[in-house]
Amino acid sequence: MKKKNRIHLNRLIEKYRRGDTVPPCPHFGRCGGCLFQDLSYDDQLELKKELVNDALQEIASVDRVNPSPPYRYRSRMDMVTAFGRCGLRRSGSYRVVIDIEFCRIMREKSERLYRAIRPLISDIEDYDYLRHHGYLRYVVLREALFTGQVMLNFVTAAWENRLASVIERIADQADSVSLIHSGGLADLSYGDIFETIKGGYIEESLDGIRFRITPNSFFQSNAEIAVQMYRRIRNEAGGRVLDLCSGVGGISLFIAGSVDRVTGVEMNREAVDAAETNRLINRIENAEFTCAEAKDFLRGRVDDYETIVLDPPRSGMLPDVMERIDRMRAGKIIYLSCNPATFRDDVRNLHGYRVESVEAYDMFPQTPHVELLGILKAE
Ligand SMILES: C[S@@+](CC[C@H](N)C(=O)[O-])C[C@H]1O[C@@H](n2cnc3c(N)ncnc32)[C@H](O)[C@@H]1O
Repeated sequence: MKKKNRIHLNRLIEKYRRGDTVPPCPHFGRCGGCLFQDLSYDDQLELKKELVNDALQEIASVDRVNPSPPYRYRSRMDMVTAFGRCGLRRSGSYRVVIDIEFCRIMREKSERLYRAIRPLISDIEDYDYLRHHGYLRYVVLREALFTGQVMLNFVTAAWENRLASVIERIADQADSVSLIHSGGLADLSYGDIFETIKGGYIEESLDGIRFRITPNSFFQSNAEIAVQMYRRIRNEAGGRVLDLCSGVGGISLFIAGSVDRVTGVEMNREAVDAAETNRLINRIENAEFTCAEAKDFLRGRVDDYETIVLDPPRSGMLPDVMERIDRMRAGKIIYLSCNPATFRDDVRNLHGYRVESVEAYDMFPQTPHVELLGILKAE
């Protein structure tokens, strides 16, 4: 986080901290995962409303942030294993890992599994990500809210399974267990799957649409909020739809039943394959998925889309991608964003559109992050 933003956030935390909320987690204050446990949940929502409106500036404003269950909402946790510890990074420090025994934002089954794994991996060599030496980099736990299925990924710096005895003892608690190689200097919790011990995927179910989630593919971290946003998108989208940054097909397949045709574009091959599998499982005929970078897909494109859905990562869309989208003249753009600042900058690059509405959703309680859903209409 930029220094200026950090100062602004700290000022808001001071404003809303009333001294009568006791953080439920023993790691609060040291762990970088949660910053707001000493604020009441209503105050967290007020704080986020202020953060969003400050970031949006003259683009739009929100009058509330839609709430989530404040704890036990997170369907994915990436636990770092480094320096003899297993847990999360210390608040404000990339170089320090603190041991995490409990995590109140994690879903229950995956937390139970995590707590069972911790003592079992104490003899396994971890990975020093500052000196780039060692073996086990991450233990990743994922849990689907509506099916309860649990995924466990071990991310290692060598193409070797040194975890067989650990896995043997906990495999019955997970529906999918994979070994993933991440060998580069970058600190990544995904990479090449080199051994699938069990399953290879878990399934989530949103309003009856089933989604297969594979070890490296993105899926929304808070399914309760995701389904609310997807319903809203389904109500707004119509005609021929382009879904840019489509992941495993979450939005495309959810809305397919109420639009003419939807084309998902996604650069991660594993996610595109999962999207195609999800299409087949759900017997959806009017959706298709293409593996491409958004800018390459849009180059020279003249197709007519009535609706364009955008759901980029935190970094937002490249300015030239926004310019191309602007020139395509779709009737409506639906923009989902987890970063109000890049949302604002991207919207400013759309000259032929006016913002009809922006809604905020608390996808990440206890943290400063918030998800926006913007509806833009062609002028
Ligand atoms: C926030 S996720 C959205 C996933 C999906 N819309 C959903 O609801 O599950 C962003 C996705 O964009 C993909 N992505 C990132 N940059 C991209 C680009 N330049 N072109 C195409 N896809 C991209 C990522 O691989 C990731 O799957």
